[in-house]
Amino acid sequence: MAIRKDKIVFFEQRLVDFFRKAGREHLPWRKPRKASPRGKKNSTAYEVWVSEIMLQQTQVSRVIGYYTRFLKRFPDVGSLAQASWEEFLPYYEGLGYYARGRNMLKTAKVLTEQYAGIFPRDKKLLQTLPGIGPYTASAILSFAYGDNHLAWDTNLKRVLGRFFFGGKQLIGDEVFWEDKFQTPKKVLNAALMDFGSAVCVARPKCGICPLSARCVYYREKGSGEQSTANKKQLTKNNQQALVSKKQKIDWREAQAYVFLHEHHTIYYSSDANKFQPFILPSGYTTRAGIKQYFQEKYGLSLSVRPPHQKMIISGGPILLVNAQILRGSPCFEIFHKKDVKWYTISK
Ligand code: ADE
Repeated sequence: MAIRKDKIVFFEQRLVDFFRKAGREHLPWRKPRKASPRGKKNSTAYEVWVSEIMLQQTQVSRVIGYYTRFLKRFPDVGSLAQASWEEFLPYYEGLGYYARGRNMLKTAKVLTEQYAGIFPRDKKLLQTLPGIGPYTASAILSFAYGDNHLAWDTNLKRVLGRFFFGGKQLIGDEVFWEDKFQTPKKVLNAALMDFGSAVCVARPKCGICPLSARCVYYREKGSGEQSTANKKQLTKNNQQALVSKKQKIDWREAQAYVFLHEHHTIYYSSDANKFQPFILPSGYTTRAGIKQYFQEKYGLSLSVRPPHQKMIISGGPILLVNAQILRGSPCFEIFHKKDVKWYTISK
């Protein structure tokens, strides 16, 4: 199964570019905590492990609060190892799957007793710890230690499989892929996760995909996805018909498509080549959440309007939101109102 080098280069370049513009590096487990040693760039193995266990069963947007409270109460392996189940439970309750919670306590104790409280930098040893499988071990090693492991989960397989082969069937295994890329795995894993959760979702958003030009799935089936999605986008009536009253849609899990502007005269695009709104990670749907996102990611202070339209596209529910820049220096491509197609459609 040979893969052309130039295709891999294209894949990595576009993916990393997407990640720079729309990656979720604001997620708390991807940022060093305030209390962390100065100059620390990576999250610790403990931080990665806690987040990965919580993320196994719950949406990213819900995990953020649990993770933050948990880390305040149990800042390291030692503090967790000393906790009883009764002390632990209030910080985990609501996440479900209590076997995983019990395994966390067991792992903390094994680490304290056998590894001086430090996660071993070895995939096989990590997998001997309760509740840690190959995926979690790879995530810990790549995110915390910068090691060369792919976080081989369904999202990642879906993205690689579609782009290179049109589907998951021929994808091969982790070992086959591990030496194919130049990008450090810490970045590549996060980029694949974010791309798989924002664009290359179960029903992919090929119409907005920056990789579609060389994607096998797109060539074979994706133009169908795209034209369906576009048709759906074109008329408001169709949109509303799609949102049947019986359907239960959790709009809190939607993705905000933010139309960033100054006085509605110029609009900023997240893409240098064509107008594109800023597509936020799923869960940033409140005005406060959107403001926080732009403040943290771009240092911009915004005035955010309530969503002017809610719609379902192939990838799921989205909210169209206008936001005006109040303070800060945007460094995005500028477009004029006449070129802002989605804005016009949504009016
Ligand atoms: N960052 C690190 N691991 C992650 C995961 N499992 N989901 C989303 N973001 C992550």
